[in-house]
Amino acid sequence: MRYEQRNPLPIPAAGEFQHVQSTIDAVFDWHYELKRQKLLDLYEKGKAASWNATELDWSIDVDIERMVAQRQQMGGGTVLNQFLNPPRTLSDHEALTLNLNMNAFMLSQFLHGEQGALLATAKIVETVPWAEAKFYAANQVADEARHVEVYHRYLTEKLGISYEIHPSLATLLADILRDSRWDITYLGMQIMVEGLALAAFGMQKLMMSEEPLIVDITTRIMGDESRHVAFGVMSLEGVYEQMTASELREREDFVIEATHLMRERLLMQPVFERLGWPLDVWMPWATSTPFMRGFRQMLFSKIVPNLKRLGLLTPRVREEFAKLDLLRFENLKDSVEEPEPQPPAELVQLLLQILASRQGAQPAAS
Ligand SMILES: [Fe+2]
Ligand SMILES: [Fe+2]
Repeated sequence: MRYEQRNPLPIPAAGEFQHVQSTIDAVFDWHYELKRQKLLDLYEKGKAASWNATELDWSIDVDIERMVAQRQQMGGGTVLNQFLNPPRTLSDHEALTLNLNMNAFMLSQFLHGEQGALLATAKIVETVPWAEAKFYAANQVADEARHVEVYHRYLTEKLGISYEIHPSLATLLADILRDSRWDITYLGMQIMVEGLALAAFGMQKLMMSEEPLIVDITTRIMGDESRHVAFGVMSLEGVYEQMTASELREREDFVIEATHLMRERLLMQPVFERLGWPLDVWMPWATSTPFMRGFRQMLFSKIVPNLKRLGLLTPRVREEFAKLDLLRFENLKDSVEEPEPQPPAELVQLLLQILASRQGAQPAAS
């Protein structure tokens, strides 16, 4: 692994290292019963599907600016204004800047989330009671190191713009790492953070379809992440059925809190701060404009059916999700029923509309 960091990541104000205190029980499994066949099969799959960052074509010249300019020549600027419905009409240059920065912001948060997954899953190796889950978690740890590597290389060598970790993501990752209960690590990382990432990667791939390097990176990572999310669901299955009401209530609180933290990040405040665009204008827009609301909701399309399978779509969680209009995903397939990730149909439809209108047709009514 050798690459040039042409544009290093910005260092957070709090410094380059962050320490999170945690007291966990590291558990040995001397029984080695190895009877959880689904987990063992996943472990075999994970080992066989391993890939190397050197297999990617790093010679590709990544020029998002040129890509966006080409879209604009085909009328993409007008379409962007129609879809985003911004507080004021954006010039082509402003739309380009917004696009570049939103893309860099999302990719940077993917990178930081990957580092969170690396640490959280290493913790699972120690804390989960069963050997077969330790095996798979170890395999996932290797995947996550590779994900950090490729996103970091893409951001620093190819893209040229990057963002530090969003405070809400930093809070969520620290909460996950600090907690001593082994199931909370899974619930926070494999079900919530990776469940959201899986949907976000699907979106990234569709939005950046003309950039072959990020398409290749995203396709490979999505393959891995779909196993990681399935790992979470398989490991937690049955666990919540045996919990007391007060234990379950703590998990509900965690899910609700994590949902709010994840949505906050998706408002992308640091983008508007960096562009110097007034927050009192752009934050209400990011909160309420239909495109941004739809985008945030779609990112929960994998989380909701998985929570349902685990028995965590309880009345309290349902009430909260109803307010956020997330319950419409509850009957989609969960990660065990459908291990290969599919972008939500609504998202595909929306992007097809954008593409169709880019090619000169009128966007369909939304
Ligand atoms: Fe990952
Ligand atoms: Fe992962």
